[in-house]
Amino acid sequence: MIRPARIEDAPRIGEIHVAGWRTGYRGIIPDSFLAGLSSEKRAAGWKYAIEKDPESVLVAEEAGVIQGWAAIAKSREGIAGAGELLALYVDPLSWRKGYGAKLISAAEATLWLRGYEGCVLWVLERNFSARAFYRRSGYTDDGGVKSESIEGVDLVELRMYKRRANKPAQHNAGSRPVSSGSPESASPSLLGPRG
Ligand SMILES: CC(C)(COP(=O)(O)OP(=O)(O)OC[C@H]1O[C@@H](n2cnc3c(N)ncnc32)[C@H](O)[C@@H]1OP(=O)(O)O)[C@@H](O)C(=O)NCCC(=O)NCCS
Repeated sequence: MIRPARIEDAPRIGEIHVAGWRTGYRGIIPDSFLAGLSSEKRAAGWKYAIEKDPESVLVAEEAGVIQGWAAIAKSREGIAGAGELLALYVDPLSWRKGYGAKLISAAEATLWLRGYEGCVLWVLERNFSARAFYRRSGYTDDGGVKSESIEGVDLVELRMYKRRANKPAQHNAGSRPVSSGSPESASPSLLGPRG
């Protein structure tokens, strides 16, 4: 079942967030940084998001256990007509069981209901499994690129975009990189709410 998150889901959301980073980003983000992540801090951030906009965080629940979650918002870069998938994490013990696909469909449905014409997301260039998942879900690289550094390791992120079916194309931001080499102040950060 996919449902909007409740405040009391925040600890489990934080736990999955950190487990997702530690498993999904191993070999990409330094181990020392991953070891220092706090599920409590992540939970606090998402609790705040749920309080502000209850339908902006969706969870996949099975037999009373949350298996994954997704968060949406309007595009943080102000791309006209675009919503954004801020985060999508499935418990690593439950990967490849279809939860990610169900969550991204529900997240898109919520964005379409809110009137957005498309959805953007940022993904680490070296996160090949997530990029494959997003391609399979109908997203394509739109040319947006940014980079930042974590503990001296340079990380490149790519923006992907999916247009709502039956909507005319109005997304022109892909013709040039958002930034290259150093993040723009308006660009969302890997360390920000997206996670
Ligand atoms: C990316 C992620 C959300 C996918 O969730 P999931 O529940 O495992 O994905 P699904 O089972 O719904 O997969 C749907 C399809 O996506 C593709 N896919 C998913 N994982 C893949 C992988 N590791 N490699 C290649 N294709 C993959 C497959 O086509 C899959 O269908 P199939 O299993 O029938 O072949 C999950 O792996 C995750 O949480 N990763 C760590 C965090 C992360 O990278 N999040 C994205 C941040 S931008």
